[in-house]
Amino acid sequence: MAADQKQQNADTDWATTIASELRDATRALHHRLDHSPRLAPLVRPGLTLSEYGKCLQALYAINHPIELRIAEYISAHALPIDYEAHRRIDDLAADLQFLGLPLPAPAWSGPLIDSPGALTGCFYVLAGSTLGGRVIFRQLQAKLAVDAQNGAKFFAGHGEQTMAKWQAFWAFAAAVCPAGQLPAARESAAGLFDHFLQHLEASPQ
Ligand code: HEM
Repeated sequence: MAADQKQQNADTDWATTIASELRDATRALHHRLDHSPRLAPLVRPGLTLSEYGKCLQALYAINHPIELRIAEYISAHALPIDYEAHRRIDDLAADLQFLGLPLPAPAWSGPLIDSPGALTGCFYVLAGSTLGGRVIFRQLQAKLAVDAQNGAKFFAGHGEQTMAKWQAFWAFAAAVCPAGQLPAARESAAGLFDHFLQHLEASPQ
């Protein structure tokens, strides 16, 4: 086997290990999150436009500072990824504008990202949410008068590119997160889910 093929296989194996560690660290927390009173209506039959708008506002207030902290860390360390192409806050803002709702103030200052592990854990949470977002998007389209261009850009995520972006995230994670950083990655992913739960609970009813 050629040397670069071997290296590529080793990187893929390492990405798979990080993926399973992070999934394992956050599975129970994700379950609590998708059953939380603020988000659960998104996948219930009677979803209203007003409930949808409140979800979007709560997510905007939580996600905006997270994206900023991730972008800052990547730029400060000149890491090899085009993070702009992964950001979704502008889509979230466009959906709120479509619904005629104001952009809320940030709910917090965002996570402390002070290591490659912390970066990987936080990026994982936002990147992974695009997968569930596709499921939610299909429900939104079926139930509300919104689509990928009008009112549901955020949950439409990266559209057809969603899995490609998810793979690009894992290639990046494998490159920047060495084995010694796994505990920090697990801790930061779980910690960020916890923050989501707390801030969603505190979001305006
Ligand atoms: C009602 C709300 C939500 C629902 C119904 C939901 C549903 C899902 C589903 C079905 C998947 C698996 C998709 C697949 O494997 O193709 C998924 C993955 C994921 N979601 Fe959610 N999600 C929700 C909210 C969120 C939020 C708010 C976050 C982030 C804070 C999040 C983070 C993740 C992550 C990180 C993964 C990837 C898990 C992995 O494979 O490692 N989800 N979600």
